[in-house]
Amino acid sequence: MSGKPTRTLVTSALPYANGPIHIGHIAGAYLPADLYVRYLRARKRDVVWVCGSDEHGAAITLRARKEGTTPRAIVDRYHEEMQEAFSSLDIAFDHYDRTSSAEHHAFAQQFFLELLEKGAFTEETRQQFFDPVEQQFLADRYIQGTCPKCEYDKAFGDQCEKCGSALSPEDLVHPVSTLSGATPEMRETTLWYLPMDRHEDWLRKYLEEGKLDGEQHHDAKAWKAHVIGQCKSWVDGGLQSRAMTRDLDWGVPVPVEGAEGKVLYVWLDAPLGYITATQNWARKAGADWEPYWKDEGTQLVHFIGKDNIVFHCIIFPILLKEHGGYLLPHNVPANEFMNLQGDKISTSRNWAVWAKEYIDDFPGRSDEMRYVLASIMPEQKDAEFTWEDFQSRVNNELADVLGNFVNRVFVLTGKFHGGKVPGASGDWTEVDQALLDLMASTPDAVGDAMERYRFRDALQHAMGLVRAGNKYLTEEEPWKVVKTHPGRAADILHLALQVTANAAIVLAPFLPRTAARLGSALGTAELPWDAAGGALVAEGQPLGELPILFEKITDEQVEEQKGKLGAGLEGMRDVEQEKPQTTFDDFQAMDLRVAEVIAAEKVKGADKLLQLTVRTGYDERTVVSGIAEHFSPDDVVGRKVTLLANLAPRKIRGVVSQGMVLMATTEDGGLRFVAPEDGAEPGDIIR
Ligand code: 2FM
Ligand code: ZN
Repeated sequence: MSGKPTRTLVTSALPYANGPIHIGHIAGAYLPADLYVRYLRARKRDVVWVCGSDEHGAAITLRARKEGTTPRAIVDRYHEEMQEAFSSLDIAFDHYDRTSSAEHHAFAQQFFLELLEKGAFTEETRQQFFDPVEQQFLADRYIQGTCPKCEYDKAFGDQCEKCGSALSPEDLVHPVSTLSGATPEMRETTLWYLPMDRHEDWLRKYLEEGKLDGEQHHDAKAWKAHVIGQCKSWVDGGLQSRAMTRDLDWGVPVPVEGAEGKVLYVWLDAPLGYITATQNWARKAGADWEPYWKDEGTQLVHFIGKDNIVFHCIIFPILLKEHGGYLLPHNVPANEFMNLQGDKISTSRNWAVWAKEYIDDFPGRSDEMRYVLASIMPEQKDAEFTWEDFQSRVNNELADVLGNFVNRVFVLTGKFHGGKVPGASGDWTEVDQALLDLMASTPDAVGDAMERYRFRDALQHAMGLVRAGNKYLTEEEPWKVVKTHPGRAADILHLALQVTANAAIVLAPFLPRTAARLGSALGTAELPWDAAGGALVAEGQPLGELPILFEKITDEQVEEQKGKLGAGLEGMRDVEQEKPQTTFDDFQAMDLRVAEVIAAEKVKGADKLLQLTVRTGYDERTVVSGIAEHFSPDDVVGRKVTLLANLAPRKIRGVVSQGMVLMATTEDGGLRFVAPEDGAEPGDIIR
């Protein structure tokens, strides 16, 4: 399929409804889609853009636990908040849905059953990680460990957020439960798996050549290199079966008898949310949803961040293909990550620029943020937002180039032509002609870049016209020329006004508010894209009031914004999340005592374990402790320690351990004894 599509369905990653939206989200999956869709709408193409809140998965349940509330309360709150954040930056979906709706549950269940009937899944009983403290199975964000690919030590059980690799819990090195910090045990459970190895051959062809079943499906060269690269390395590494269900109580229940307590894997249910969102959009719009997912003439484009690549380019396509009847993505123009002021964006460290806070601080100034984010968008590699750069782009480009150009054009037209568009002689100079040519070629240059998902380039082409107009005005000096050659001055202003109108069209996807202001100041109800390239405002057309388009960003504002980064959390550490509340009675149930280590030796065949003999004041006992990588036997003999004395005895490497010695883990991964003050004696009770 190539050339102009009959219709385009655009999706943006359904954000987890577990926290506010920041500029990293916006620059990743929402602004690029908004630019693309605004452009297609301007070209009068049939385009629908859907999104919605991803309301299932551990991202939600863990947040609820942290806030001591229910998943329902969390998703209801953030579903509202996220929509406000998007609209504050004029991110204008055709439809914004949510995955906890009854319609979505019903559709996802039906889709699952259809896949089950087609034999897409295997039902397998396997060993899974289980948290012995919390008594629950651990997958996805419930388990954390070191990424086998990039060695990031906080990778989750389903993916590493540093390098973007999709993982399975078994892949993690040193896995621990994010709920209790416990080292997980293995327990058996029955889950439905997607055997992805069956799909390697066609996937490779689909990714590398854009071909499927012999048919050309898309232009593979049009895919971003980093997207193809990540997918290929995943396929080349050999695709494994991936569990498509989870033992959890929040999510879409598995619609099979006997599967109580099991829900669909969030990465099965969420992408189906794109389909339910399209169905709900269609219901609202009185349209038919099916052509958008099923007709050959449709192009399906997924805008996402790089951490979602394999889910959209491999797993979801497998599910769609297995089901049959659905189109596969035409392109997945994933963006890389946006960093902020020299560091990774982090919600927990409050190192973020929140969409909502930005608008509270800069009311009505969404175009400025859109402009800067589009200018530095992480299209091919990670990018960085700094407030100094924001200031310089707003002041030097928006205010001093665009604002200044348009303002001069309006002021001069007011002064010399009574605020009406002057006529032109048609007698163009070479300089005029160069500007006319640029004006004529700019819409296609912008459009071509847009269609190739090169939004930074598209913006540069659009601003190129404004820069040329500004330079033209400065060099042609109509305010001087008017004294000797008023006809020539009229030509200059006439052309500058046409440039202004053309700029309003090509900048509209990026700066919708500014474009609308320019349109009304130019007195034109509509500035259609298809008319761009030539003269758009007629001689004699009266101009309206031009408001000040861009205020400069002051140094104080920059400092104030920088001061907000990490605020409220100074000196705070990025640590494991706190466990859920416990009761005083539970605490009382633990018998903590001062003890003294009187002997220590290594446990044979276990690098990490020391076998300690401790004196409690009323007995001597053996405790096995996982500290051998940090302490030698000599280091510990004679130390006073805190002992959890009534921990049920456990056999560890053949040695029965009667209790546990408490340790503090330091930020760099070291260990320190939780030692009582001098004077405390073995047997002293800690309470
Ligand atoms: O990474 C995320 O935020 C996911 N909630 C994206 C889901 S995209 C889709 F498939 F729904
Ligand atoms: Zn990694």
